[in-house]
Amino acid sequence: MGAERGPHWTTAALRPFRVHVAAMMTGPEFRSPELKTIIEPFRIKSVEPIRMTTRDERKKLLENVHFNMFGLHSDDVLIDLLTDSGTGAMSAAQWSAVMRGDESYAGSPSFYRFEAAVKNLAPFKHVIPTHQGRAAEAILFSMLGGVGRNIPNNTHFDTTRGNIEASGAAGHDLVIAEGHDPANLHPFKGNMDLVRLESYLQEHGDSVPCVMITITNNAGGGQPVSLANIRATAALARKYGRPFIIDGCRFAENAWFIKEREEGQEDRSITDIVRDCFAEADGMTMSAKKDAFGNIGGWLALNDDDLAAKARNYLIRAEGFPTYGGLSGRDLEALAQGLSEIVDEDYLRYRIRTNTYIVERLDALGIPVVKPAGGHAVFIDARTWLSHIPPLQYPGQALAVALYELGGIRGCEIGTVMFGMHPDGTETPAAMDLVRLAIPRRTYTQSHADYLIEVFEELAEIKDTLTGYRITHQPDLMRHFTCRFEKLEP
Ligand code: F0G
Repeated sequence: MGAERGPHWTTAALRPFRVHVAAMMTGPEFRSPELKTIIEPFRIKSVEPIRMTTRDERKKLLENVHFNMFGLHSDDVLIDLLTDSGTGAMSAAQWSAVMRGDESYAGSPSFYRFEAAVKNLAPFKHVIPTHQGRAAEAILFSMLGGVGRNIPNNTHFDTTRGNIEASGAAGHDLVIAEGHDPANLHPFKGNMDLVRLESYLQEHGDSVPCVMITITNNAGGGQPVSLANIRATAALARKYGRPFIIDGCRFAENAWFIKEREEGQEDRSITDIVRDCFAEADGMTMSAKKDAFGNIGGWLALNDDDLAAKARNYLIRAEGFPTYGGLSGRDLEALAQGLSEIVDEDYLRYRIRTNTYIVERLDALGIPVVKPAGGHAVFIDARTWLSHIPPLQYPGQALAVALYELGGIRGCEIGTVMFGMHPDGTETPAAMDLVRLAIPRRTYTQSHADYLIEVFEELAEIKDTLTGYRITHQPDLMRHFTCRFEKLEP
């Protein structure tokens, strides 16, 4: 780390070093309040080497995979920001818990420890383990979905929408207007638009089987939802007699934002805020690969006995017996421990500060980023930055390819490639063309962040020479995972 980069995850500029030394020498009462650098609140016990690649090598690799980031081998990637899902570092305590895993088919104590850890934060009556989040969604929509049904959310994540549409139902996104404006500084850009939700519930009547909300709003930039908005959304769902389901993948990051930004919440513990959020809901879907520090795992939680009984029947057919879902006992143990670590405020402070630091630095370079910084990722507004590339030539894809070619960094397009294709075969530009740089939990360090910023400095020099892309092959559903691209000539 070069000295010219100055202080890093800081909330304010550091005073000159000698002031600290002087302060430290005059007595302990001057110590920590003076120090503003937020350090990674962990030491590293085990490391994975990164294989270095050259730009020429990466150029060829991109052609080999038809410019689809999901086709790259991960050991050809220097810094992998494709997802924060399942890619985090487990703690020593989690690895120890793994050894305690009991692999009994039925009634494993590992399941009961997992169940207790979930209920401690999300006190639902029934906790049904699944191998990951989308399995919980598949079970839920096998019961609540179906032809002619309509399901609102602030913004459905792609697998959520995929499972809804696969059941024959339709998903609709009703996030507040500020959520579509990358530069708008609204503190809770993931909030549900309550006016639109109420008219939606009136218009669609009995065809709405549930109301959903996603915390944080991943597809909209990892933006949080306020506790007040969760409560108001729940109240509307209740008024119209609909179950309210929270997609809780990043519940702890969402709770941190509530604590930081919502009036009256600043002195409350993260655990209490999390409990208040889930207390409003009739159920939740969860990918434990995010805010449970798992490499795999998920759950569906429900209060309704009949629905839970149906869900368990599906689970037994497709995932596994209800005391393991699709998981091993050791996975359940790692998740139980992870859930006790994720609500740690020192961790959450460092976690959110990491993203804010990168956003501030990119913003200072004049690169349009989604602001304020989201919880798990940094989002670049590629449509604005590469305004010479029309949305139907995928500016987000062009930026993702350039980031990999120039710096070996793998990000993910979240825009027209991901959302532009409709079930009827038509294609329209998505609401935004973003590139997401998702930050795995506890995995990368300060200098990885500084390297990323340096790559963007270089990109800024050549961005006007980047060209768009054309899709040459695509599947019917969720095309972004497997479609092939061809680079357009300037
Ligand atoms: N809901 C949200 C909000 C998500 O972000 C994800 C996954 C899922 C559901 C599905 O969970 O992957 O365990 O099946 N998001 C990952 C991502 C894949 O990269 O954002 P899963």
